[in-house]
Amino acid sequence: MSKLPIGIFDSGVGGTSIWKEIHSLLPNENTIYLADSANAPYGPKGKEAIIKLSIKNTEYLLSKDCKLIVVACNTATTNAIDFLRKTYSVPFIGIEPAIKPAALQTKTNAIGILATKGTLSSALFSKTSGLFANNINVIEQVGEGIVQLIESGKLHSDEMIVLLKLYLKPMLDANIDYLVLGCTHYPYLMPLLIDLLPSNVKIIDSGEAVARQTKAILGQYDLLNTETVHSKNELFTNGNPVVMQSLLDGKFNVDYLDF
Ligand code: DGL
Repeated sequence: MSKLPIGIFDSGVGGTSIWKEIHSLLPNENTIYLADSANAPYGPKGKEAIIKLSIKNTEYLLSKDCKLIVVACNTATTNAIDFLRKTYSVPFIGIEPAIKPAALQTKTNAIGILATKGTLSSALFSKTSGLFANNINVIEQVGEGIVQLIESGKLHSDEMIVLLKLYLKPMLDANIDYLVLGCTHYPYLMPLLIDLLPSNVKIIDSGEAVARQTKAILGQYDLLNTETVHSKNELFTNGNPVVMQSLLDGKFNVDYLDF
């Protein structure tokens, strides 16, 4: 059982930011990654549609005998993980915007959250925000168009800089000192964000925490792969493999798969 793969899915290539953290913390683990780029972005879709797509991705991963599934997408986690956990017996790990550490550490009492419409309008996000950031000025910003640019290979483009400047402006006007990245595509923006933000603004991304949680849950279920032979990592997209390959620095093979 422990040799079975970890399944990971996202609406597209962004979840590879999580896959990298998992692969680096748990190099013995076999993995299957699904980028549902043909259906990206999930952000503007409604809850029902996001649940339907999450079911499709989960069922493919379960057909490959995955022992645990990582929903490497804030939008799918905040809209569909409750349904997935109720429906399937395999353990699920999700990701949601890390409001808590930002809210606990802010000195200016203002934090920014950049995420998709689907995440910011979810009940799970309101609940977490209400719990931890009640007395804090939370500047929520939908990152409209960012996922599409990354999916089409335009991560480093003038269009991206224009969008980021526009989205960061209200946050900077409110004097934020923490920016929470609420979408797994956004860690790829890190060099651009560092350039555009003043040095006192810290950027929070929860990729590493997801990898640690994956390890903890595998340990709890006695599912950690202790074999030291080379792990098998299968990375699939139903979009353009070249875009995903470039985000992985050409170090891993990416195959087209119609799933
Ligand atoms: N990576 C997804 C997330 O974390 C992007 C969502 C989308 O496709 O809009 O939310």
